[in-house]
Amino acid sequence: MDTFDALFTRRSIRHFTKDPVAPDARRLLVRAALQAPSAADARPWHLVEIDERGVLDALGTAMEGCEMLREATYGLLVCGDPSLEKIPGFWVQDCSAATENVLLAVTALGLGGVWIGLHPVAERVAAVRAELGIPEGIVPLALVAVGHPAEDPGREDRFDAGKLHANRW
Ligand SMILES: Cc1cc2nc3c(=O)[nH]c(=O)nc-3n(C[C@H](O)[C@H](O)[C@H](O)COP(=O)(O)O)c2cc1C
Repeated sequence: MDTFDALFTRRSIRHFTKDPVAPDARRLLVRAALQAPSAADARPWHLVEIDERGVLDALGTAMEGCEMLREATYGLLVCGDPSLEKIPGFWVQDCSAATENVLLAVTALGLGGVWIGLHPVAERVAAVRAELGIPEGIVPLALVAVGHPAEDPGREDRFDAGKLHANRW
């Protein structure tokens, strides 16, 4: 799948089969995240791979609206480490770029996934900290729930000329 196919076909997938995500695919998702651009190339991130059924289930139960984790067979948690920043304030953008890379790689691999936003939702951040033992100072930003898709929402063309401005607002 080329880049534009991945960009234009990516959708949030929240229902999954029980098939596991293969180790090679997992490695590619991790590599995709770590390949992201970051301000001053600071790479202010840490990843946590989650493949234990009990941990995915616990997170899906602990966080309201995250039931898809009980079907996902793999999770990739993207955390920010603001102490690694070279230009203060950019870690959210850096880690968001890493998260989007994961979603595009998920699509390119024929898998399905959804971005679960954590920071700045205090209850979600606390739940992830508690379940996974994330240290203070490290901020869980996004959890990508991944698996083999059991739904197909189809593609959606979101081009909107009203959002585009030329040279001046
Ligand atoms: C920052 C962010 C946080 C999100 N958090 C959630 C979430 O907690 N639960 C969820 O089901 N989807 C979540 N999503 C997915 C969006 O709901 C989804 O991307 C949006 O509805 C557009 O649909 P699409 O992904 O199929 O294009 C999140 C997306 C982003 C970018």
